[in-house]
Formats: sequence, structure tokens, C-alpha cells
Amino acid sequence: MDKFVIKGGIPLRGTIRIGGAKNAALPIMAACLLCSSKNTILNIPDMKDVKTMQRLLEHMGAQTQKEGSSLTIDTTDIKNFIAPYELVKTMRASVLVLGPLLARYGFAKVSLPGGCAIGARPINLHLMGLQKMGADIQLESGYVVAKADRLKGAVINFDIPTVTGTENIMMSAVLAKGTTVIENAAMEPEVEDLARCLQSVGAKINGAGQRLIEIEGVDYLKPINMYEIIPDRIQIGTYMTIAGITNGEIVMKGCSIKHLEAVVEKLTNTGIVVQSIQDGIKVKGCEEIRSQDIKTMPYPGFPTDMQAQFMALMTVANGTSVIKENIFENRFMHVAELRRMGADISIDGSVATVRGVKRLKGAPVMATDLRASASLVIAALKAEGQTTIYRIYHLDRGYERMDENLRLLGADIQRLKDDVQV
Ligand code: EPU
Repeated sequence: MDKFVIKGGIPLRGTIRIGGAKNAALPIMAACLLCSSKNTILNIPDMKDVKTMQRLLEHMGAQTQKEGSSLTIDTTDIKNFIAPYELVKTMRASVLVLGPLLARYGFAKVSLPGGCAIGARPINLHLMGLQKMGADIQLESGYVVAKADRLKGAVINFDIPTVTGTENIMMSAVLAKGTTVIENAAMEPEVEDLARCLQSVGAKINGAGQRLIEIEGVDYLKPINMYEIIPDRIQIGTYMTIAGITNGEIVMKGCSIKHLEAVVEKLTNTGIVVQSIQDGIKVKGCEEIRSQDIKTMPYPGFPTDMQAQFMALMTVANGTSVIKENIFENRFMHVAELRRMGADISIDGSVATVRGVKRLKGAPVMATDLRASASLVIAALKAEGQTTIYRIYHLDRGYERMDENLRLLGADIQRLKDDVQV
């Protein structure tokens, strides 16, 4: 297992390139199961979760090839319709193969994802939607076993807007017979990106990116041809926070502030300067960070995937910040670790109150999930002295070469094996 050793206090300056979004790449890779023969996707990020999805598709019989940020997935020989526990337990997004397998092959056996570090995260809404479309769904020894002759269009109303649930139903509906309406759909940009990709191969989808999506099923989809994934808005937001907390100046290329409205508004209110430039964004920190309250909400609200990073910023703000987590019931695992670095944070249910302190001090800390790890990196870059962050594999799931990027920006960061002492 790897760890990061970071010596904080350096204002980070320089230019980095932002790659494709993990949460857009994963459903689009799964969507290759809907399309015959050889699919090519561009701007695929180099990170662990993408590799896990690639392994899962290979396990089903797909042939995949990655060259730089371009990925080819040939689904001609899919013959195994099972997503095994061993892969699903390392990445919940594996559940995204359920809809495509069922729609194209009429059968899927997918391990039921258990709870995870951020909450219980059931998939009842995915299953309800598929049942409404005529699927027979049984739970057998920890697996969802789903069968259908041909799925039929239906009206599906989600109690809660679910991102991967909306994606699973959208992917099922594109090959179903008739029209499917998803009410209270998730409006996240990644849902819209999936829809745009599916439209490029012949799917008939209206309203993606809005609360109501209408999909008219077709008989066949062409192979995906050089579809380019949108930039990763959460990586962008994370580096914006890093520029802010270190009082540095970071230029990000290959991206824009589109899809980051809520994050940019809050960061700007803290005093951080965010500027659109050609083919990118420039972010400048400030001497004194003003405290801001946030509440996480489905898109276009403030994303839960930026909550931990924003909290790290607030630990050194001038004043008190109230942070309400509305999406996941257990997404404050980073709090105990930030406290080890001197942060003053109290929790009451889904509300964290962060009282800004003058300085953070380096400490050994443990990463508990993907975004929590990013918050520890942010705090470590600000802290006096040395911070060791253990279990960095969580971070590697969703950040592309973060240590290399940070070194490029002037950070003192090392990736070491767990047993190496410094
Ligand atoms: N929910 C249910 N039943 C369901 C589905 C969801 O009760 O059948 C609940 C969840 O427990 C949660 C809420 O609905 O309280 C919203 O969850 P959602 O289904 O939208 O989350 P997800 O699809 O499992 C995706 C991202 C997450 C991101 C959330 C929220 C992917 C692969 N994952 O998860 O990303 O936090 O949406 O925006 O798209 C991350 O990248 O670090 C990450 C966790």
C-alpha cells in the first residue's frame, strides 16, 4: 500500500491539464455493452476505477485496449453476464453494467453492492425502475439476478434523484420497446454526457440534464466512435481549493468552469479568484479565506463530492462555517483526521460546524474514501510540518496522478510504500 508524505506551507503555482471525468467515463464504458463491435472513447482518465471497469468488461468477454487517453472496447464476444462480488466490492459503479446487459442480452447477474464508507447506498431505485420495465428480478446469495425478454418502456418516478440509477434506466430504455419517461431524474452533467454519447450512436433521448427525461427505444445502436468525455469537474474543484488554501496560482488547461457554478460561487465568496481563460481556468488564492456555509445538494447544487475538500479549506478560514451534508448519511469520515491536524470541527448529525484556526499542523492521518483523501491532501499542503497520509489507494481511484501534478506545481510530496520510514 502507498502513502503520501507531504511537507506543507508552499504556495502552489503552475499549469496542469485536467482529464476526463471518472463519473462520466464509467457509465459510458458500461454503455459499450449496448453497442455492437468496436467502440472508441476519448479523454479517458488514467485512474483505478476506470481500470476496474475495464477489467469487469474484459471479464465479460470484451477486448479492450488503452492508448494514451483513448480506450477501445470491443463487445463482439460478450458471453459472460456476471459482475462478480470481487470487482463490485472494490467499485460500486460496477452496478452500471446491470441495465445494459439486461437490455441487450436479456440477462444479468450483478453482485449487490454492500454499504460503503460514505453510507448504505442501496440500489432499490435501480431495481424498481427495471421491474417497471418488465424485468424479473430476484436476489440470490448476494447477487441481483435480472431477466427480461425485451424490456418495455415505462414511466419511472424516482423518490430521490439518483445518478447511477438514472444512468442505468436510461441505458436500459434506449433498447427497450416503446417510450420510457424518467421523472425526478438526476441532472448531473455526467448523466447528460452519457445521453450525448448514446445519441451519437442512434439513441433517442430527450431532456437529459433536466428533471424529466424521455427515451424512445430503438432496435440497434451503432458503435461509439471517438466520443470525448467531459472534463472532471470534481478534480477541477479540488485543484481550485488547493490554489486557494496555499495562496498560490494554478492554471488548469483542457477544461472550463461550466458545471462548476455552485462551487465557483462559494469559492469566490471566500476570496479566491476564479477566472476563465482560453482553454482553461486560472485560480488565485488570497491571504485571508472568509468562511462560507454550504449544503450539499443534487446538481446544480453544491456537490457532495466537493464537501470534504471545501471543509478542508474552511478549517483555516476566518470565522465559522456550517456544512450540511444532504446526500450521504456518513460522509464526515475525514473530520476525525482533520482534527488530528488541529482543525476545530464538531458534528451534529448531518451538520458539521468548522471554526477556522490560525494554523494546521502536520500529522499521520488515514484516508477513508476517495474525496476524504483529497481533503487530507489539501489540509496537508497548508499544514506546518510533515503529514503522512496512509491508504492512498482511495485517492488513486478517482484522481489522475495527483502527486505528479502537485509536484509540477511545486509541492513537496512523496509517494512511498507503507513500510518506508521517513
Ligand atoms: N439512493 C437510494 N436508492 C437507490 C439509489 C440511491 O436510496 O437506489 C440514495 C443514495 O443512498 C443517496 C442518494 O440516493 O443518498 C443519491 O445517490 P446516487 O444514487 O445519486 O449516488 P450514486 O449514483 O451511487 C454517484 C457518483 C458519486 C456521487 C453521487 C452523488 C458515480 C459512479 N458515482 O453515486 O460519486 O457522490 O452520485 O452525486 O457516478 C465519487 O466520485 O466520489 C462518488 C462517490
